[in-house]
Amino acid sequence: MGFSTKQIHAGVSPDPLTGSILTPIYQTTTYVQDSVDEYLAKGYSYSRSGNPTVRALEQKITALEEGHDTVCFGTGMAAINAVFLGFLNAGDHAVISDVAYGGTYRLATKIYSRFGVEFSFVDSSDSAAVRAAIQDNTRLILTETPANPTLKLSDIAAISAIAKEHGIPHGVDNTFLTPYYQRPLELGADLSIHSTTKYFDGHNATIGGAVVSASAELNEAVRFIQHATGSIMAPQVAFLTLQGVKTLSVRMDRQSENAQQVAEFLAGHPKVESVCYPGLASFPQHDLAKSQASGFGAMVWFEVKGGLAAGKQLMDSIELWSLAENLGSVESLITHPVTMTHADVEEAERKRVGITDGLVRLSVGLEDVEDLIAALDLALAKVK
Ligand SMILES: Cc1ncc(COP(=O)(O)O)c(C=O)c1O
Repeated sequence: MGFSTKQIHAGVSPDPLTGSILTPIYQTTTYVQDSVDEYLAKGYSYSRSGNPTVRALEQKITALEEGHDTVCFGTGMAAINAVFLGFLNAGDHAVISDVAYGGTYRLATKIYSRFGVEFSFVDSSDSAAVRAAIQDNTRLILTETPANPTLKLSDIAAISAIAKEHGIPHGVDNTFLTPYYQRPLELGADLSIHSTTKYFDGHNATIGGAVVSASAELNEAVRFIQHATGSIMAPQVAFLTLQGVKTLSVRMDRQSENAQQVAEFLAGHPKVESVCYPGLASFPQHDLAKSQASGFGAMVWFEVKGGLAAGKQLMDSIELWSLAENLGSVESLITHPVTMTHADVEEAERKRVGITDGLVRLSVGLEDVEDLIAALDLALAKVK
């Protein structure tokens, strides 16, 4: 089946009791067993261990990522936390992309460091640097590509090959491109991680996460952490996400087309200092963007001439684009990573990895692109 057919039909079937075409929201704590000997005969015992609505979403995401199995979580951060807990012990070391969502950096440096886990934040656009950072006690490589917010890419196949040589699992945060455009497991990665909050939902309605594993062993390690720590996805969230996923490919194609036009408009604007979008020929890793993914995505960043002050003026005055955290929704959003999504990354580290004070991040939505560009044009005209 093709991707668009799978995003609608995989993992779901009409409700056997009523024929309801949508998988119902199984809002229940427990599941009555027929007898002690038939415990778990219907597959469910208690909703911390499994829920039919959530399971339908897990099966759909597994089909889309071509994985072995998926575990869904209450948030994207809970998914990343489960990967850390599943594969790292005190005294272990992990290699992580030096540009990644600020929450990933915060979790590593502010929580796991308290328990004797070491991290190296490495420029994973340079696969040789990833290899060089591996130590005897390295137990996990986590890359985020494209990375939030600078869009720096990591070569998934090259890093997965290095990870395999060393017997270390390689997890890829695939939130920005989703399996519609990029399938890390096909490129050799072991885990594909998502904030389903973003493109899977697509409507600013939920917060959720997922870890797709390439093997039963990896999946069991992740599932065990969920069962033990209780970081589950709620059935209402799974239901809404199941509806969002059905249009994933259509939204992503249209949002990416809009992003290409927005990036080209910004690149030609006299008040814009620099623009970054993987679909621009000027993007430093344009060839890698084309070879490891089938689309460029809908995230763009730029800097206004005049730096931080000018960027703030633009973000405070722009219409139609909502000044908000989140990305991937049908609504276009504008974000200032330094004060919002990456506020917990120390200034020196932010500067080292290129998250500049004036960086303005755009999540391009599904509105008419002429309206999005007109709003940007007007806001740029107001910048002094
Ligand atoms: C790339 C990436 N990974 C993970 C997360 C965390 O996801 P959540 O907000 O669903 O916890 C985010 C959130 O912005 C993100 O952008």
